[in-house]
Amino acid sequence: MDKIKIIGGRPLTGQIRISGAKNAALPLMCASLLTNEPLILKNLPQLADVFTLGSVLSHLGVKTTYKGEAVGDHQATFHAQGPILPEAPYDLVRKMRASVLVLGPLVARLGYAKVSLPGGCAIGSRPVDIHLKGLEALGTDITLEDGYVIAQAKNGLKGAEFSFPTITVTGTENILMAAVLAQGTTRLLNCAVEPEVTDLARCLQTMGAKIEGIGTPILTITGVSSLHGTSYSVLPDRIETGTYAMAAGITGGEIELISTNLDLIPTASQTLEMMGMSFKKTDQGFIAKGPSRRLQAAEIVTDPYPGFATDLQAQIMALACVAEGVSFITETIFENRFMHVPELARMGADITIKGNTAIIKGTQHLKGAPVMATDLRASVSLVLAALSSSEETMVNRVYHLDRGYEELENKLSACGAIIERVREGSTHDISETAQTFKAAG
Ligand code: EPU
Repeated sequence: MDKIKIIGGRPLTGQIRISGAKNAALPLMCASLLTNEPLILKNLPQLADVFTLGSVLSHLGVKTTYKGEAVGDHQATFHAQGPILPEAPYDLVRKMRASVLVLGPLVARLGYAKVSLPGGCAIGSRPVDIHLKGLEALGTDITLEDGYVIAQAKNGLKGAEFSFPTITVTGTENILMAAVLAQGTTRLLNCAVEPEVTDLARCLQTMGAKIEGIGTPILTITGVSSLHGTSYSVLPDRIETGTYAMAAGITGGEIELISTNLDLIPTASQTLEMMGMSFKKTDQGFIAKGPSRRLQAAEIVTDPYPGFATDLQAQIMALACVAEGVSFITETIFENRFMHVPELARMGADITIKGNTAIIKGTQHLKGAPVMATDLRASVSLVLAALSSSEETMVNRVYHLDRGYEELENKLSACGAIIERVREGSTHDISETAQTFKAAG
């Protein structure tokens, strides 16, 4: 299995082009099931999760073609001309929870779907009960059989009012995709307002859907009998944006993040400013600058958008580990999202967990260590921690990073990071590269 070796301790400077958002791309790809015309998605990130969902869609009968070489230049066409299969089996769905996003579109298009339950997940139990209640509200009969959800709307979906009992991102996306083809009007209350939900709603509008209230917690959808194809550009990845901004912060560097937007990370940028970072908008995006002295401790509580994103919690914890003072990080979205804590501790971090709060006493320097994590954001927090340490760190289980960070090593090494993927069986030692960098000053 591939690993990533990092020797940090140097300020990162340069430019990083932000890719299209993984969590926008996935529901947008599923929206292709709603029409028999092609859906072209531009700025589609080349990520393991995108290809995994691509194979679920191909299995269902969606013709998929990818093209483009460079970051930002990738695009794909998804053409669900038919016949479309209604069944997404366990082998495919188990690899990625977001495959449950085929459920709403399949019921809307075919009146029937059989989709494997996504099962457990490293960041908590993550049920899909609310997705199912939403579909029931629109007239779907739901049964659970041998780990499969069987959803049937014999007379088609009917518009209704449904209030999400908890804010759910993919839940909102699933029910929204079902409602656009339902007969009559649907009112969805307490919807997630994450930019990825908004991006999906805008794409659906360009496909002919009638949606009001986009970007607010109340969506009103007037069902239409069919949607048409379109060409749509995926919004920039706000989590990747926040992660690389933090790479500038933790190394005391200065990185211009291009093809993105500071407004996508409102609470994270405010928090980072309080920790000593500064931001400046530019024509292409914005510059994230680390503090000239040490980062300062912070108090952070994760919340649905526009609050502090749970998907940036692990990363900011890496910064808190080297900040001056005691930081408090409270995770309110997922019950088991502190798997990075023991790994950060291996690097010398001082972290105590009390309930859903991590208390971090900042230390001046982290040590290098072999580390591994069990989810995507936890893994990248270890990369950030490693970038701050002048010793060598080996991050194992790189496949987590490949799920959500396009060209991570290339983007970081373009800013001066000493980072290298060690392929299984490879003997090359990056300490040689580090020596060359040192010799070059
Ligand atoms: N929940 C339920 N029942 C449901 C659905 C959700 O109890 O039917 C609970 C969850 O267990 C959780 C809370 O509601 O406690 C919010 O979860 P949500 O449904 O919003 O999460 P999600 O839609 O499964 C998406 C992202 C996650 C991100 C969360 C929160 C995608 C594909 N995934 O997940 O992204 O953490 O929203 O913002 O959009 C990641 O990219 O690393 C990632 C995990």
